[in-house]
Amino acid sequence: NKTENQMLVIFGASGDLTARKLIPAIFALARDGYLPENFVVLGASRSPWSDEEFRENVVTESKHLREKIDESQKKMITGFADRLFYHELSDDQDSDYGPLKKRIDSLNSEHHTDSNYIFYLSTPPSVYGPISKNLHQQGLHKEDEGWRRLIVEKPFGYSLETAKKLNKSLHQYFKEPQIFRIDHYLGKETVQNLLVTRFANSIFEPLWNRNYIHHIEITNAESGGVEKRGGYYDKSGALRDMFQSHLMQIIAFVIMEPPLNSNAEQIRDEKLKALKSLRVMTDPKVLHDNTIRAQYISSVIDGEKVKGYREEADVDPESKTETYAAIKFFVDNWRWAEVPFYVRTAKRMPTKVTEVVIHFKTPHHQIFKDAGMSNKDNKLIIRIQPDEGILIKFGVKVPGQGFKVERANLDFYYSGLAENHVMEAYERLLLDAMQGDATLYARADEVEAAWAFVDPILEYWKNSDAKVHGYSAGAWGPENADSLIDGVGMWRNPSE
Ligand code: BG6
Repeated sequence: NKTENQMLVIFGASGDLTARKLIPAIFALARDGYLPENFVVLGASRSPWSDEEFRENVVTESKHLREKIDESQKKMITGFADRLFYHELSDDQDSDYGPLKKRIDSLNSEHHTDSNYIFYLSTPPSVYGPISKNLHQQGLHKEDEGWRRLIVEKPFGYSLETAKKLNKSLHQYFKEPQIFRIDHYLGKETVQNLLVTRFANSIFEPLWNRNYIHHIEITNAESGGVEKRGGYYDKSGALRDMFQSHLMQIIAFVIMEPPLNSNAEQIRDEKLKALKSLRVMTDPKVLHDNTIRAQYISSVIDGEKVKGYREEADVDPESKTETYAAIKFFVDNWRWAEVPFYVRTAKRMPTKVTEVVIHFKTPHHQIFKDAGMSNKDNKLIIRIQPDEGILIKFGVKVPGQGFKVERANLDFYYSGLAENHVMEAYERLLLDAMQGDATLYARADEVEAAWAFVDPILEYWKNSDAKVHGYSAGAWGPENADSLIDGVGMWRNPSE
């Protein structure tokens, strides 16, 4: 694919994401030869920085970039920093946009970026509307000279209603094909590989349905707590922060029907259909029985005392915000009728891991039942992170007399393909947006479909006295989470 000359304008450029993720990703793209000949970054933010200060903060003095590069790449840094510029702007101040437009025009003519612009909104969602309105007013949405694209970060809305409003307001100023809603999980190789595993292999796809699959389990665990993001997190919680976005995307890839081909619209049409087939839970009894929320409480990990969620900075000491969410649900369509799905996500668990576990049914007629083969023996485990790869568990005969069956593993690690550099999620997604490929970006209708499933759960948690359970920081969640899954077995806790 071709990457045309262009300018990337980052709103919220003095924020954490720019230094931590965006600039290192752009540096990696530059290093690996993916950037076009004429390419500049213009950071726009409230901090009163000069170009030089911006370069120091996000490139030359940035610990985030330094962590990523070795000695041999250090000499590339200065040349790279020279492509960065900065413009002071209050993103909700209309009068600041005239000068911004002038700056963009002058950089464009000086650096020959062919009037192709990407506007990256790395800001709180509350200013997505004002920024896009102002860009529109300055004519920066119009594609008569070059193309114009808008990337928006998550969270995309706070509820179904706010997501709809946000879509409506963005659509006033930009057309849907110009809007790229980022979900960095879609940039992970292993998430994309779900599609290849399913649709490129005749050893998996014929089994991928209710006839052969008993249940599906998805775990997304983080060992870290809320760190410095207590203020944001306390208003958000695990369901909004992880489930509505990243996990819904994984779920869509796991359950969707095969698309006609690998084009963006075909894939996104199928994802939309999949998300619309989730059985929305609205009955309080059903919500009570199928959802669990919890918060981590203080404990000692490796001899060190770890704070409980309610003691974290910027968190309400009486907060009911969940740091753990586990949901059981069904998918009402031909392929998945009555197959239960168990999905959990949490902070402060024993380890950082994301995996999808497909539990297959027992063969209909069991000849080896008494020989050690159990109904839990056939599993396909897709390790999204870390140790990216695929593990198949199956039964083999123990050598010797008779038919004793033992479990064996077939294990594939991505690291075994070491000659390929695995692009980080933000590298991949930025490059796609630079090339105009929206396959790995969420479309307006998809995001709304994901909210439609999550909204009633959030409402129920907010308005009912559904218990907020506690779990010790560093444990695999609250004890009663086991009751959610005990009809089919136990949660698979990867490091155990
Ligand atoms: C972000 C969430 O979107 O994803 C964070 O806001 C979370 O709370 C992060 O820690 C997890 O991403 P990853 O790629 O480290 O699994």
